[in-house]
Amino acid sequence: MLRHLARSVSAAALAALVSLAAAPALHAADNERPRVAILATGGTIAGVQAHPGAAAYKPGVLTLDHLLAQLPGLDQVARLEGEQVANIASQDITAELWLRLARRAAAHLADPAVSGVVITHGTDTMEESAWLLRLVLRSEKPVVLTGAMLPATHPQADGPVNLRSAVAVAASPAARGYGPLLLLNGELHPARDVRKTATEAIDTFQSPNDLPVGAASPAGPSFSVSASSIRPAPGGGFDLAALDADALPRVVIVAAHGDADGSVVDALLALPAERRPAGIVLAGVGNGNASAPLLAALERASSAGIVVVRSSRTGRGLVDRNLEVDDDRLGWIAARALSPQKARILLVLGLTRTRDLAELQRLFDEA
Ligand code: SIN
Repeated sequence: MLRHLARSVSAAALAALVSLAAAPALHAADNERPRVAILATGGTIAGVQAHPGAAAYKPGVLTLDHLLAQLPGLDQVARLEGEQVANIASQDITAELWLRLARRAAAHLADPAVSGVVITHGTDTMEESAWLLRLVLRSEKPVVLTGAMLPATHPQADGPVNLRSAVAVAASPAARGYGPLLLLNGELHPARDVRKTATEAIDTFQSPNDLPVGAASPAGPSFSVSASSIRPAPGGGFDLAALDADALPRVVIVAAHGDADGSVVDALLALPAERRPAGIVLAGVGNGNASAPLLAALERASSAGIVVVRSSRTGRGLVDRNLEVDDDRLGWIAARALSPQKARILLVLGLTRTRDLAELQRLFDEA
């Protein structure tokens, strides 16, 4: 039951888990409980305050065994197996770690005995990881990303209830078919639209173009939206086995703002060819727009073969083609519903498949 977990847990946490597993009542129900794999990556849920009462803390310190040791009885909800995939603050996530995480999730999901996967993750880039997983995982089984806004040592830490709820959701057949779900503050958000909207608030995750698809508690999920209404992964998704982190196209985000010139884009164009990005995502004002000098620099970039995608920094709504900017003339792509950071991920993966602008636009239309 604890086969993966046993490789990394401390003796005390393992003893606690083993003693739970050894309880006769649990033995009786052992085969009936679903199996859930937990992949830990760090974040505030694994964070530790500088000292008791301190606001300052360090994310990505505690290991999964510590987190589980705070949750006696969780083993009664599901048979758990766990892996410490990383222990970082999520701003340090890399393409290599994304693909490693995706491959570990895919391996667990392919196991017929596993009901679902939970991923503990920092909240800062959790929405990006959820979206990447949406694009590369094929399973109908639940994948639930959760984290915390308060570190594990805080008296009001939200991590423990989030992790309990995430295991209950991952164990539930009702959560199948939604793609990766992000769980925080008792809400379940699908990957495409969810974004972190506040620096410190517990209700930081919102789906501004949609609503949460349901609620979650340690008792399990309750869905208000059916799984069939979730859009499939654009382009049918991407073949995880074929992706190589070192060979992924480089795509950068350039922000528009008042008084913006084109110097950032021109600096990118001045790079040696092998370091120049293959794509630029504009985090534009309004409907994906930018100042005349920045638009002119982006036009120079696309003339030099860099794919330009226009997205919006506003946080809500769609970026449509050819409204204020002539995408047809410029050969640019409109990000539609995707935030700049999610548009970047789709462009990275899209460029592994094609450089055809119409095909790339179709991916964004389908997202
Ligand atoms: C992080 O994203 O790793 C730090 C912030 C958080 O988890 O809330």
